[in-house]
Amino acid sequence: MKFMILNGPNINMVGIREKSIYGTMNFENIIAYIKDEANKRNIDVECYQSNHEGDLVDAIQRAYFEHMDGIVINPAAYTHTSVAIADAIKAISPIPVVEVHLSDIKQREEFRHHSYCAPYCIEQVKGHGPLGYIMAMDILIKNVEEKL
Ligand code: DQA
Repeated sequence: MKFMILNGPNINMVGIREKSIYGTMNFENIIAYIKDEANKRNIDVECYQSNHEGDLVDAIQRAYFEHMDGIVINPAAYTHTSVAIADAIKAISPIPVVEVHLSDIKQREEFRHHSYCAPYCIEQVKGHGPLGYIMAMDILIKNVEEKL
């Protein structure tokens, strides 16, 4: 199985930005942790981070054309604004997508409560910090195995 792990704007600043919300593990270490856990599960992962909306749309489309088995995405602030990313996720169904947030967006400012992407994702994992990416991979593995 191969999964695309996508991170949106400012996720590369985790470990520096708002540590009381996002924790102290830096982005490089989060990616190393994801790769390590993917390895243990025999999953290939491609990890990509961008601060630009269109780059994330391109990456979602690429996952489709390269026949990847699933996507884990933390769209970051674009969660709450981007119809383009939501449309891209919808466009590539039936490739399963799991939305991840380090923080619990439902417990934060009102504008973070709504996700344009969530209706097109099989699940939303929030508030578990970096572990959320691993939980999301496990959800994808289960989803893919169920379809075999
Ligand atoms: C986030 C939550 C978003 O509201 C915020 O804009 C982020 C990170 C999270 O991982 O908790 O940048 O997606």
